[in-house]
Amino acid sequence: MTMKKISQRDPLLTCRTAICFGLACCFLFLGSPTNSLGDDHHSKKKSLDRRLIQKLRRNDVHAIDLGPTASTEMVELGQALFFDPILSGNRDTACSTCHFPSAGTGDQLSLGVGTGTTTPSKVSFFREKGEGRSFIPRNAPELFNKGSVLWESQFWDSRVATAYGSISSPAGEDLPLGLATPLAVQAMFPVTSGDEMRGSTADFLDPHKDNEIADPALDGDLPGIWNALMNRLEQIEGYADPVDGLFVKAYGEVPANLGFESAATALAAFESTAYSYDDSPFDEYLKGNRDAMTEAQKRGALLFYGKLQCSSCHSGTLLTDQKHYNLAIPQFGEGKDESGLDLGRYLVTGNEEDRFKFRVPGLRNVTHTAPYMHNGAYYNLADAIAHHLDPARSLMNYDADEQLIQGAELADTIIKERSVLRDLIKTADVKRKKIKPAEMSDLLEFMQALTAPNIEIRLESTIPSSVPSGLPIDHFGE
Ligand code: HEC
Ligand code: HEC
Repeated sequence: MTMKKISQRDPLLTCRTAICFGLACCFLFLGSPTNSLGDDHHSKKKSLDRRLIQKLRRNDVHAIDLGPTASTEMVELGQALFFDPILSGNRDTACSTCHFPSAGTGDQLSLGVGTGTTTPSKVSFFREKGEGRSFIPRNAPELFNKGSVLWESQFWDSRVATAYGSISSPAGEDLPLGLATPLAVQAMFPVTSGDEMRGSTADFLDPHKDNEIADPALDGDLPGIWNALMNRLEQIEGYADPVDGLFVKAYGEVPANLGFESAATALAAFESTAYSYDDSPFDEYLKGNRDAMTEAQKRGALLFYGKLQCSSCHSGTLLTDQKHYNLAIPQFGEGKDESGLDLGRYLVTGNEEDRFKFRVPGLRNVTHTAPYMHNGAYYNLADAIAHHLDPARSLMNYDADEQLIQGAELADTIIKERSVLRDLIKTADVKRKKIKPAEMSDLLEFMQALTAPNIEIRLESTIPSSVPSGLPIDHFGE
């Protein structure tokens, strides 16, 4: 039954129904009961919903399932480990340093600052790189909704991924058994990276640092590093107490009897419990609540799934096909290998056609996860989107001062070599598309609809007041 039919029969009934759209509408209905503005408005709204629902169905976008739940004890262990700098060789860097809740589970930096910082326990713009240290070559991604069983890969280049029923990773045969998900496998690696958490040979040799994890005898020996970390945890009562220790509570065993995979599994349990939300306006809409999104958000969604074809890559329930594309993003920093560039997925597969390709990010809570792209090249969401719509121009006119956090330190490293820029543009997977200012505004409204309500408060509530090692916890800002 449409509003139109009702209004023709009984203007008063229309008026009552229209109260939910505001009193102003009500008077309009009364003033011209037949072909009223309110009517138009309502049927437009309906047809917007009809078109959008059809698109979502066609694109296989469903209400998100946040994944299996873990025991409270497992999550508590994971939370302690996530915030405890004890997992870094020099005791100055935790997972939370680069994935801080109040920074949208990132670090607000374009490129991260790992161990050896001169400002330990400070995150955000105030964290500074230590003398002679390198920036982490890529942007720290957000950790939202990673517990969903739909995730098949981790990292910008998917170097951890499910393949033929098992999980492949850079550790190859060294990867211990018992890691159930790519997310748990991922957590094995930050502690083994010299720049991120482990530290350097110089740190090992520095008697003040007491960094046994960076022992060069363990270089290339991942199981050795993981064991050294479990030995460290065994020394800390909060983790190792045989009655009250966090490991006993979660596993019934002390750290001495467990491998680092038990820590990684707990870290994954914490990440997926703490940072998974299914109540953004978009997620509520997917559950069937047609009033959860505003009309501008619905118009933006129609552009996303229709005319602009964002959904050809940001597809399905996770808003990513988990495949890799070259968007001709400006290159800067030290790069990932001797080339001084970051060739992305190519470094995993060695296939020429994978050069400069990075995994499509899922976009939930994207309004809170700046800076954007695999190297944090764009600070503004509108510019990150605009880059897709004219990649060549955006690359050639890239304004480091405007966009790049750490511009002062990184501006000089921006690759301007013609041959590289030409290569990036020639092989790009996105082509120029025209968009009107009003459409961009609707698209940005749709991005807002991907953000969970009260997200700041919910994120902050995941920060513990202390960690078992007694080391200081990261804090946000100055
Ligand atoms: C020094 C900064 C830093 C620290 C410390 C750090 N990470 Fe990260 N994290 C990153 C960066 C950078 C990436 C992306 C690397 C890449 O894709 O090559 C990343 C990627 C990830 C991802 C993959 C997300 C995705 O969508 O693919 C997860 C999950 C994650 N980190 C969890 C952790 C955990 C758990 C810890 C602690 C054990 C940790 N990180 C410590 C910077 C850091
Ligand atoms: C050809 C595939 C493709 C299409 C089409 C596409 N994207 Fe992307 N998008 C990507 C990839 C890949 C990245 C990451 C690129 C990188 O970091 O090198 C990305 C990054 C983003 C980011 C930054 C997210 C973050 O966390 O860093 C946003 C926002 C975004 N896309 C929105 C859109 C919108 C809106 C559209 C439609 C106008 C769109 N995308 C169309 C592949 C695509």
